[in-house]
Amino acid sequence: MAPSKKAGKKKDAPAKGKATSAGGKAAFAKADWKEGFKKKQVGVSDMTLLSTISNESVNDNLQKRWTNAEIYTYIGPVLISVNPFRDLGIYTDEVVARYKGRNRLEVPPHVFAIAEGSYYNMQAYKDNQCVIISGESGAGKTEAAKRIMQYVAAVSGGHDSSAIQEIKDMVLATNPLLESFGCAKTLRNNNSSRHGKYLEIMFNANGEPVGAQITNYLLEKGRVVGQIENERDFHIFYQFTKGASDDQREAFGLQGPESYAYTSRSNCLEVPGIDDVEDFAETIKAMQIIGLSDSEQNDIFRMLAVILWLGNVTFVENDDGNAAVADTSVTDFVAYLLETDAALVEKVMVSKVVETQRGGRRGSVYDVPLNPAQAAAGRDALAKAIYNNLFEWIVSRVNVSMKPRGAHATVIGVLDIYGFEIFQENSFEQLCINYVNEKLQQIFIELTLKAEQEEYVREQIKWSPINYFNNKVVCDLIEERRPPGIFAALNDACATAHADPAAADNSFVQRLGGLGSNAHFEARGSKFLVKHYAGDVMYTIAGMTDKNKDALVKDLLDLVASSGNAFLQTLFPDRPDPNSKKRPPTAGDKIKASAGALVENLMRAQPSYIRTIKPNENRSGSEYDTKAVLHQVKYLGLQENIRVRRAGFAYRNTFEKMIERFYLLSPATGYAGEYIWQGDVKTGCERILKDSGIAKEEWQMGVTKAFIKNPETLFALETMRDRYFHNMAARIQRAWRNYWRYKNECAIRIQRFWKNNKESLAFAEVRDYGHAVLAQRKERRRYSLLSYRRFVGDYLDVGGKSPLGETIREACGIGRDKVTFSSRIQLLVSKFGRSSKPSPRYLVVTEKAVHIVVTTEKTGTTLERKIALVTIKSIAMSNMRDDWVALNLPPSEEGDPVFSCIFKTELAANLLTLTQASIQVVVAPTIEYSKKKEKKATITFVRDETVAKDDVYKSHTVHVPTGEPATSVSRPAAKRKAGVVRPITKGKLLRPGGPSGSNAPRPAAKPKPKPQTLPGGATSNLASPALKSTPAVAAKPSAAAARGVPPPPPPPPPAAAAAEPDVPQYRAIYDFQGQPGELNLTKDDVVELLEKDDNGWWRVKRGTEEGWTPHNYLELIPPKPKAAAPPPPPARRAPPPAPKPAAAPAAAANGLKAAAARPTPPVGTKPKPAAPPVGAKPAAPKPPGAGGKPPVPASARPVPSPAPKPAAAGARASGGVGQMDLAAALAKRAQRMGE
Ligand SMILES: Nc1ncnc2c1ncn2[C@@H]1O[C@H](COP(=O)(O)OP(=O)(O)O)[C@@H](O)[C@H]1O
Ligand SMILES: [Mg+2]
Repeated sequence: MAPSKKAGKKKDAPAKGKATSAGGKAAFAKADWKEGFKKKQVGVSDMTLLSTISNESVNDNLQKRWTNAEIYTYIGPVLISVNPFRDLGIYTDEVVARYKGRNRLEVPPHVFAIAEGSYYNMQAYKDNQCVIISGESGAGKTEAAKRIMQYVAAVSGGHDSSAIQEIKDMVLATNPLLESFGCAKTLRNNNSSRHGKYLEIMFNANGEPVGAQITNYLLEKGRVVGQIENERDFHIFYQFTKGASDDQREAFGLQGPESYAYTSRSNCLEVPGIDDVEDFAETIKAMQIIGLSDSEQNDIFRMLAVILWLGNVTFVENDDGNAAVADTSVTDFVAYLLETDAALVEKVMVSKVVETQRGGRRGSVYDVPLNPAQAAAGRDALAKAIYNNLFEWIVSRVNVSMKPRGAHATVIGVLDIYGFEIFQENSFEQLCINYVNEKLQQIFIELTLKAEQEEYVREQIKWSPINYFNNKVVCDLIEERRPPGIFAALNDACATAHADPAAADNSFVQRLGGLGSNAHFEARGSKFLVKHYAGDVMYTIAGMTDKNKDALVKDLLDLVASSGNAFLQTLFPDRPDPNSKKRPPTAGDKIKASAGALVENLMRAQPSYIRTIKPNENRSGSEYDTKAVLHQVKYLGLQENIRVRRAGFAYRNTFEKMIERFYLLSPATGYAGEYIWQGDVKTGCERILKDSGIAKEEWQMGVTKAFIKNPETLFALETMRDRYFHNMAARIQRAWRNYWRYKNECAIRIQRFWKNNKESLAFAEVRDYGHAVLAQRKERRRYSLLSYRRFVGDYLDVGGKSPLGETIREACGIGRDKVTFSSRIQLLVSKFGRSSKPSPRYLVVTEKAVHIVVTTEKTGTTLERKIALVTIKSIAMSNMRDDWVALNLPPSEEGDPVFSCIFKTELAANLLTLTQASIQVVVAPTIEYSKKKEKKATITFVRDETVAKDDVYKSHTVHVPTGEPATSVSRPAAKRKAGVVRPITKGKLLRPGGPSGSNAPRPAAKPKPKPQTLPGGATSNLASPALKSTPAVAAKPSAAAARGVPPPPPPPPPAAAAAEPDVPQYRAIYDFQGQPGELNLTKDDVVELLEKDDNGWWRVKRGTEEGWTPHNYLELIPPKPKAAAPPPPPARRAPPPAPKPAAAPAAAANGLKAAAARPTPPVGTKPKPAAPPVGAKPAAPKPPGAGGKPPVPASARPVPSPAPKPAAAGARASGGVGQMDLAAALAKRAQRMGE
């Protein structure tokens, strides 16, 4: 960062008070927003907010703040800075970061805010910027300028480019370099700039610095040869004499500053807080950064040595009263340094050549001896000329180094000029300095007071004019040609009496008489008074014409010409042509010209102002000199500045520009990112301001521009605009996220449904296989045909983790074998010759064997019998509804196991599957089996409708009621219970209440307004790159809008969902006459199911009537659409090939087809801004596993016998109860999974 060469290096540590910690490191340890926003402000940070406006109140406010270490205060955009004279630690990188990208109202007043404003405006509007820093000497201009450079270098990017970094480094290095050569310790300021400087930093289109240029204004060269008591020569002389290397000392005969007249006469060799040796090192470093070669540096130091030694040339008066060099060894050394003849040096020191002119022709040439005073003046003139030219050479050398690399788009200029000066003795230098300050005040007045007020008149804005002092009259006094002003009078005096300075001064006095009529001028004998805007200054006339003439006598120029030193030659490039009639430009001409050029240059850029104030004359960090500050407040015109600001408008812009920037803020002017206003720009702009809710007093419409009174209002508009984009982005993001959530949820539901479906399909498939196994040979139990009946297989969970399952598994010793079937059975057991009786057992089938497990009190659960699958020859069953099964095995002592198993069909299907259908299923009126090895037995079956439940076995005869016809097939899977459809998301995509919520017609979409071209012809706000990158969905609505098509309406809710009641409906397939509490049915009655009881009775509702009815009298009304007629039931008698229940690829494919046939769920890629068609998701899904299969036609059924009443629980066979419950539970589970 820019080293604060003088300010930051106070050895006597600055007071470390509250202020230091406020800006110091410790204070930034925590979140810095607190610092930025919460720091208690003292006074008002913008003086336009002062309650009373007077010089005193301004001063009070500044004092309060300064005392509280708040050195910066605004008047609108103008920054007032009161020199703290101590290090406040407020220029750290953290502070830079805090100001980066912020507008000035977001952060406390600071010079960085001004820098940010300039940099931002340059970038945003591609306008050149300038920062004009004014104030008295020592008020802090140079510090402010350095801070601006520091900030701009820090924020202007290009970190990855060495070329840009190089420029930044050079720009920052110009500060120590030019300060060393151009600043000096004065009574007012230890680092007083003795020249003016306008630094322009050039930026490329990316806002990266690519070059810089310095314009130098009038170095105070008189300081080289003498200073008033307790001031110093330029810093470099002390740095050089104190810090030079031994080689340099050797080469230039260099000694300490005390040894040289020029540096020692004012008795100030040391300055507290300045380390000349250290600064010298820094100067050398800066020279290196800027690219000055060693030889160039050497040349510069040689010139400094020449000047120092020249100063030590002294004269004595000889007998003729003429000057003689007191010590020729000094002139000899000067000659050595100048690389010229020693005698010549001595000669030009004490004499001058005078050429007589006769009638315009050149005449004889005389050597005229000089008196000691004249000789000293000539010596000093040479020293001054060398230094001045050296300084200008350095500036142009710096400019060569900082030449822009490549094209530059914009410029930020920083003007740091010497401040207004009033001394005891004021000479030509002060006149020039104060003149330049007058010109700067002019610019300020022109731009902030005059132009502003003129614009209000032009725009017919209601406005009460503010009086202010326009210093143009003072500028005229100094610079006017006709009637001649002070500079013109000086020039005239020089021209008429060019040979004799005293005569010229007299002539000047006379000419000044003509200015007496000017109210800002008073002639006072040998002095004159100018009433500057910043105060009255009395100027001493003596020597003014000479300084104005600013020409070296011919002898000295000849001396320079005789030098063998090439560098010296380059310092004096153009010798004035002695034959030229044209008067060479005087110093006054030069300063006038450069001030004029400067003003022109500044007026072309967007100005920012920093007005610096010096709180005391003693460089004290605690003394506040109210009188001195009041004086500055007055002449800076701060009070008027506040009044103009208050009465005026902080911001104005053309209607077109306003609309371009803010049209989105009003629904009347912006719609979906398009500009839609059809009226003229003025009314459009007015509409925006009205609609954005800004108080009427805050704005006015001019003729071509809208005026906004307070910056806060403008920033509020900007904030609204930002928020608009922010909200739109958030909306788009939300829609996008909702869309994704919706899509995911749909996918999850489809996957879940399909997974469950696949599982249940597999079960259903086994069931269908069971049908095929029986091949319509056996009457069926109703339960077996229920739609939700699934062949679950392992009913006892032997393969699972239940305690019973594990016990059985252990008893069987089946290890890891897969259990394909398990069930309770009633095994026929004959005990001790008595007739056989059913006795409870567990039956477990694995891939290898059938296991029969028994539990007794004595032995617990043990394996009773294990039958290898390969040994089973056939399975014998009756053709009736009973549950009896015999497994026919090869002859054995134990005989064939005969048992009752309610899952016999499933068991048979299972065994067939396991054995690749190598077992025969024998269905016959009787079951034949071997009771013992050689003993055959037969079980006969008797149809007996009196048997209430299942069947009854006794002595080889089974009584069984009629069952469902053998041709029965299973009912199609029940329609899924239609509950409340869960909405897919709670996001905005869905209407409240979910898809089945309100179907109320939605209000018709507003007609889309027609887009208009923006008045400025600019592209719409939405064309900003940030929004271009939003995903396609985001762009969609606006694309549709652009075509003028209203957004597509939400798809209508699916008809099926609307037509189908939530409750499943059943049709009566037979008439039913019930008792009280039961509901009588007539065939084809349609009823709603209310409740299912496990005992086979359902509570149903028909219209308003409710009651119980046998469930097998009802048939589910299949979901729409009705499918085509079913294929005929399988006719094959031979067992069909076994399916692979687990994999079920065919089923999957089938299921897929079925799924595809359904209305496509909204998983499409096209998101809809309106509520998504959630209703279209399978609200009435087809029964799982029944994809293509419609219900069996009712007419195919035989007329059944009267249905039995619900049986009492107690009537159930004790052995079957638990098993039945388990089966039902498992079946239900399967159903649930199916759902
Ligand atoms: N912002 C500041 N913070 C600390 N010290 C400052 C500040 N501004 C000025 N100073 C002190 O005041 C001195 C004079 O400031 P300077 O900028 O050289 O004045 P000017 O250029 O207006 O004559 C500096 O050397 C420094 O010591
Ligand atoms: Mg300065």
